[in-house]
Amino acid sequence: MKSFPVLSLVLSLVTPVAGSQIPLSESPKQSNVGTFQVYQSKHSSDHSIRIKQQQNDTLCNAHSKQYTGWLDVGGKHVFFWYFESQNSPSEDPLLLWLTGGPGGSGGIGLFQENGPCLINEHGNGTVYNEYGWSKNANIIYVDQPVSVGFSYLDEGVPIPDTSFTAAEDMHHFLQMLTHDVFPELENREFHITGESYGGHYVPTLGAQIVAQNALYPRRPQINLASVFIGNGYVSPSHSAYGYWETLCTTNPGVDSPIFNETRCDIMAANLPRCMDLSSLCYQHPDPAICLIAETVCVTGVIEYYDGESGYDGGRNRFNIAHPCKDNQFCYREIPMVQDYLNLPWVWEMLQVPKAVKNYSVYSEEVANAFSMTNDIPLSMQPQVLYLLNNDIDVLFYQGNLDLACNTAGNLQWANSMPWKGQPAFVAQSKRKWTHHGEVVGWFKEVKTKLGESKKKVTFALSTVNGAGHLVPYDKPKEALALITRWLEKRSFA
Ligand SMILES: *[C@@H]1O[C@H](CO)[C@@H](O)[C@H](O)[C@H]1NC(C)=O
Ligand SMILES: *[C@@H]1O[C@H](CO)[C@@H](O)[C@H](O)[C@H]1NC(C)=O
Ligand SMILES: *[C@@H]1O[C@H](CO)[C@@H](O)[C@H](O)[C@H]1NC(C)=O
Ligand SMILES: *[C@@H]1O[C@H](CO)[C@@H](O)[C@H](O)[C@H]1NC(C)=O
Repeated sequence: MKSFPVLSLVLSLVTPVAGSQIPLSESPKQSNVGTFQVYQSKHSSDHSIRIKQQQNDTLCNAHSKQYTGWLDVGGKHVFFWYFESQNSPSEDPLLLWLTGGPGGSGGIGLFQENGPCLINEHGNGTVYNEYGWSKNANIIYVDQPVSVGFSYLDEGVPIPDTSFTAAEDMHHFLQMLTHDVFPELENREFHITGESYGGHYVPTLGAQIVAQNALYPRRPQINLASVFIGNGYVSPSHSAYGYWETLCTTNPGVDSPIFNETRCDIMAANLPRCMDLSSLCYQHPDPAICLIAETVCVTGVIEYYDGESGYDGGRNRFNIAHPCKDNQFCYREIPMVQDYLNLPWVWEMLQVPKAVKNYSVYSEEVANAFSMTNDIPLSMQPQVLYLLNNDIDVLFYQGNLDLACNTAGNLQWANSMPWKGQPAFVAQSKRKWTHHGEVVGWFKEVKTKLGESKKKVTFALSTVNGAGHLVPYDKPKEALALITRWLEKRSFA
């Protein structure tokens, strides 16, 4: 494997299988099995949660209550790590974090980016993170789609291989967690956040929640208020389009362009075909069409950079200002997180079941499964639109030095999204936003009333200068300031 596959280069002609709807039944049950407390869903005999009450700061130096366990949905077992807010757990909002990939473990977000604790320099313990996102929020990290990280499948159960099947599992998980296990979270303001391939997962899960709430008003409702996504992979063709601006101008915040004129000319000449074929794929998402579009974009544009990236000493797709060092992920911490979560005493504390053979930060099985369906080349812009139309606030935030899911490309699809807020969004110039008097980056935001609703829905894009793909890792203080503004005011003005 060459690089962290935000983009997978292999596609086959298999179409995704639609998931089934799980019927409701049964009454609530709760029991103890070993050191786990087991909650049986009130709504489905197939659903239960095993939870460890509770973990302590030896495992993760969190400074608040933490719980780990598995949700069992039939033959699927989803691992989660839940942290109460360090401020006011009974009032603060609830966040769900989704790491990208496809195939990346929630452990990357938790221990390397925005968790209340981070991996220590030896990889054998954790240190408290002053800028962890549980400062003023309850937060859940998960290993999803199932079979990522500590999550596992029973023999013969197929791997979830699209954002849509993954979203069904996560929706059931949230219903159980907020209604059966922690009923105090039942009507809590809820936000989905994530990064990278989270640009696919988060809008899809958001749309699943909105649709299921509306379809089944008497089943457990999830009180979704907003989604916010860091360096999201939303529209593949626009990410490819943004390669030119990111590599051929100084706009990302570099002193001189990364590529010379010769290369930039070749990429520019190849872009129209890439965009043309991609829009065909978006309109007719047939895997055959999408495969051709992807191939043209990769060979004509993306490969010029990505082909020289993802190994020690090579280029870095996640930060154009730095070479790739240490390993194929270009982050020293990623294998350290993996080592930590494979330590025998850690397994003991987590009570990892025998079915899990090994913890891996990145599941190639899941990445491969996704690359066999048509999930990766799809644009999730329609899901974003659906969320806005249903009054869910949406923020995309961007580290400006990232190439894989670059600012230029995400701004481009955001500008091209047809909705009532579009003209105002397009017309708006980039405004600076500051934290403690220092300029952090720029933003654009639109608040507008849609349909019958009384609420003004917010759509925003905000950036962080000097940060790459993993904003909370590169700029922890600014990242916490960014999400705090979003959660409190939905505004960067
Ligand atoms: C956490 O729990 C473990 C196992 O029960 C125990 O050995 C350890 O001392 C505890 N650590 C703290 C900080 O309470
Ligand atoms: C972690 O590793 C360092 C360096 O090898 C060592 O000094 C320290 O005692 C270790 N800590 C634990 C908790 O094992
Ligand atoms: C442009 O950059 C490429 C790749 O680094 C290099 O091979 C080529 O020689 C450069 N061309 C010029 C004219 O500098
Ligand atoms: C567990 O997986 C990691 C990385 O995937 C590998 O380096 C390690 O050798 C594996 N350990 C076992 C016991 O299989």
